[in-house]
Amino acid sequence: MDNQKHLFDRLIYGGDYNPEQWIDYPDILKQDLALMKKAHINAVTLGVFSWSKLEPQEGVFHFEWLKEIVDRLYEHDIRVILATPSGARPRWLAEKYPQILRVREDRARHLYGERHNHCYTSPDYREKVRIINQKLSETFKDHPAVIMWHISNEYGGECHCPLCQTAFRKWLKNKYQNIDALNHAWWTTFWSHTYNSFEQIESPSSLGDEGLHGLNLDWKRFVTDQTADFMHHEILALRESGALQPITTNFMYDYTCLNYYKLAEYVDFVSWDNYPIWHRHQDILTAYDTGMQHDLMRSMKHKPFLLMESCPAATNWQAVSKIKKPGLLTNASIQAVAHGSNSVQFFQIRQCRGGFEKFHGAVIDHYGGEDTRVFREVTKTGLLLEQLSEITESQVEAPVAVLYDMESRWAMENAKGPRNEGLFYHETALKSYQAFRRNGLNVDVINMEQSPDAYQIIAAPMLYMFRAGIEEKLKRFVQNGGTLIMTYWSGIVNETDLCHLGGTPHDLTDVLGLRSEEIDALYNGEVNHFLPVEGNELQLLKSYTCRHLCDLVQLKGAVPLMEYADDFYKGYPALTVHKYGNGYAYYICADAEPDFYYDFYQRVITTRQIRPILDNIPEGIEVSSRIHKDTEYVFVQNYTGDAVAVGLPDDITILSGNYDGTISAYASIIFQRK
Ligand code: GAL
Repeated sequence: MDNQKHLFDRLIYGGDYNPEQWIDYPDILKQDLALMKKAHINAVTLGVFSWSKLEPQEGVFHFEWLKEIVDRLYEHDIRVILATPSGARPRWLAEKYPQILRVREDRARHLYGERHNHCYTSPDYREKVRIINQKLSETFKDHPAVIMWHISNEYGGECHCPLCQTAFRKWLKNKYQNIDALNHAWWTTFWSHTYNSFEQIESPSSLGDEGLHGLNLDWKRFVTDQTADFMHHEILALRESGALQPITTNFMYDYTCLNYYKLAEYVDFVSWDNYPIWHRHQDILTAYDTGMQHDLMRSMKHKPFLLMESCPAATNWQAVSKIKKPGLLTNASIQAVAHGSNSVQFFQIRQCRGGFEKFHGAVIDHYGGEDTRVFREVTKTGLLLEQLSEITESQVEAPVAVLYDMESRWAMENAKGPRNEGLFYHETALKSYQAFRRNGLNVDVINMEQSPDAYQIIAAPMLYMFRAGIEEKLKRFVQNGGTLIMTYWSGIVNETDLCHLGGTPHDLTDVLGLRSEEIDALYNGEVNHFLPVEGNELQLLKSYTCRHLCDLVQLKGAVPLMEYADDFYKGYPALTVHKYGNGYAYYICADAEPDFYYDFYQRVITTRQIRPILDNIPEGIEVSSRIHKDTEYVFVQNYTGDAVAVGLPDDITILSGNYDGTISAYASIIFQRK
């Protein structure tokens, strides 16, 4: 089928296009097509919020306008990623079927309004979505322009309505079988909260139970499963009516209300919406943070993902709508590709004239012409991506991974203690990620259900909950020669949030050669320090600051490499190493500063003899690579406002960018080598 053959013969370039807002402006639609062609746009996402134009009254369908637009895009060789419209429903639907409206945790039902706020359990909503999805599938399944389906938009949130309560109880019954098992798993004897039957269970609420950790954790798992089930229902409606194109749904940055891995199982491609806050801190730090999200999205399926949305200009919902400095739009676009995306897409192609997003950046702004700075940079980026078409065949290969687990995060951040003023999980994981990246390595970001076996080093920071047999997996990994880096506050609870008995990190004390005895929480602003142990085998020589959490460990075979400098635990181990089987297990005892991570990881990487993509990476420069057979594509990106001197190897072919020993401000060099 033409629509599938075409999918990745080039990098997808385009974005969300909302022609339903412009149906009464035929000249605008004509101009849009011409401008899209000029900008080298080859695909748009259509129909994300079109339900009220597609079905203005119940059972009355108007698809002709959409068909007309899809036809015209196709005539212009622009492909379509077609959305199902469930992200925002028409007013009539909520009026006729009020139980599709969400109920909040305080049990108040929403009025009609906003978007992304329907009940995922409601049979009425499911039925209406099924009907419209089937009709879309019947109409567009064979259209050669339609290369992919985009299911709904940014699934999220939760509903506490009676239908959801019943579904939650059923889910729990299925999981625990009998109420005694649930009582034990949730430790309900505490405060005399024992349940007599599943029927007594209510979702967490500020009017009821908020602090029952097992309940909170299972509720979050249920919300994920219910959302995934709803999404699956949407997908089946398309498939049953014959649509064969691949399917995606768009995820969000570090979104903590869902475990995205579960949704990813149902889609062919993971995609996500990327809206970094640029030019507030050092841009390279924003680039690393964004890079970690790209890598997380890629690692879910270990194959190319899609950048579904990004902002070409200022993002109006952010606290400050900063415009992008020249070069950054291109750099941020290239960054996605460098990390394994096969697309660069924007929100939005044409800036809406009214409504919440009327000042959100767009490829075509209210002025409407091509002589704008943003349009010129969009065009330049489009041309560049066109020239890089062959890259779609390549993949990112990472020798190391960071373990970053959402379920563990839910449990850890919900717990009381050891620091209710912030545990900094994301920031801590980012320190490991950044240390690998600054040392020139590609990184996968995996969760506990994935296998660590393919990597040489696994960093597993703050792995509070052990689940999915991670103890066994990590033990085997180290036994077989892997290098494990764990930190304080790991292996504390089991899958239902009950504390492990008999010493922590649970079942890995033999691998790590130590046992955590106490953890000290520091006040905001309070610090301790790491001092090198003289003659330590990694030749660490500097001292570093640490804060927030300091683990006091008892050594059982591990060797200290650094020790605390202050407080009564001065001289206690702060960084340790233990040989286990054919591998090594390191343990970082406290929340140390980024420079510690950089220096320490550099030594470990060298010890493991892992070759960086590029040696001596200067500050402000990000380096990534993709590989296809014997060809490596290397991306060297400058995230500073100045030209930076970068040494590149001799045996390379530069594919894009100007290199004279330096890389200009906010510019990239892409080269190829065998
Ligand atoms: C996304 C959303 C888009 C648009 C965009 C604006 O989260 O999916 O529909 O609202 O934000 O930045």
